[in-house]
Amino acid sequence: MKKINIGLFGFGVVGEGIYKVLEEKPQLNAAIKKIVIKDASKSRNAPAELFSTNVDDILNDEEINVVVELISDAEAAHDIIIKAFNKGKHVVSANKKLIADHHEELLDLQAKNNVSFLYEASVCGSVPIIRNLEEYFDNDLLNYVSGIVNGTTNYILTKMANENESYQDALKAAQESGFAEADPTADVEGFDSASKLAIITLHAFGKKIDVQNVIRKGVTSLKVEDFKYAKEKNYTIKLIANSKINHQTGEITSTVLPTFVDLNKTIALVNNEYNGVLIGSSLSDEQFLYGKGAGRFPTSSAVLSDISALRYDYKYSIRKYENKEEGTFNETGKKRIYIGFENQTDDVSNVFDEIEERYQSKNYNHIIGLIDIEKLKKEEIIENPKLSIIAFE
Ligand code: HSE
Repeated sequence: MKKINIGLFGFGVVGEGIYKVLEEKPQLNAAIKKIVIKDASKSRNAPAELFSTNVDDILNDEEINVVVELISDAEAAHDIIIKAFNKGKHVVSANKKLIADHHEELLDLQAKNNVSFLYEASVCGSVPIIRNLEEYFDNDLLNYVSGIVNGTTNYILTKMANENESYQDALKAAQESGFAEADPTADVEGFDSASKLAIITLHAFGKKIDVQNVIRKGVTSLKVEDFKYAKEKNYTIKLIANSKINHQTGEITSTVLPTFVDLNKTIALVNNEYNGVLIGSSLSDEQFLYGKGAGRFPTSSAVLSDISALRYDYKYSIRKYENKEEGTFNETGKKRIYIGFENQTDDVSNVFDEIEERYQSKNYNHIIGLIDIEKLKKEEIIENPKLSIIAFE
């Protein structure tokens, strides 16, 4: 592909970043021809003639060969991408929710239309995880992928752990820095991490998992007392996304849980908006990918890398997913868990199979012990906002 003519959907934090970088890098031989936005009344830092509110100005323009989709509305993005594929356009997207929810359909459609669909920016911002899982880790038998895949929550947890900042102040700063989603619920409740984990799982193990099956708890219930406990024990608290496969049975276990991480472990060094992912495999043992996981320019760098790859017609090979295997979940087994709660009335001792430690005081209580994953998953436990649920690694 010689000249790349881009139709850009969305001019938010990342969209504007892409525009600026392409302006400064003519050597990429890629230029934005049209930008479709929702609200024409906002003032933007780009020439007015580039903007339109009509999606067909991109979709029906035959000179536009690449659609870069950077809008937050997953359903609108779904519609745009399908139409773009049907028009024979390549698509670059950062929309993790959309991709996780419609992964198989989108991969099928890209193949049917013989176009490329690249989405490195959808997982871990600037960290090149998808292409590595696709190409480099194609032959080695992977056992697990585990780490921090959401910049907003990592920024919040870092500030709460290291600077005693309140949850609200840390969230506000993350939003102002452009790390958070338009609606930060997706970040702080762990949905964003779960979507990214589903995408990672397909590229790591060749299995599609339903995001609903990820055992997920966000960071909104964590209290100052939990961080105090962590400090006393030489831990920090991180929101860890983990997918592991049992090669004997083919079963997958995927979790997104606040987790105590020993301060000596590599993951404990991943702070602020940085992301870090450990890839466990049979031959290379464990490898670590690290970099900025959110923000204008880090995310733009992944989008640009995808745009640039289109110049030589790059496509994900998706070899591991050739047989389109659905991931069956293994939800058995016990997990070592800490549950913190303010009022004695929220005592959940009965969900523990074995209690190791119980702490009681006037203001805060916690229990540590083994819980059957089946019980942990129960809505009244995992969804209970009064319970600080923190896993041990
Ligand atoms: N809101 C996301 C995050 C943006 O904080 O990680 C990058 O996917």
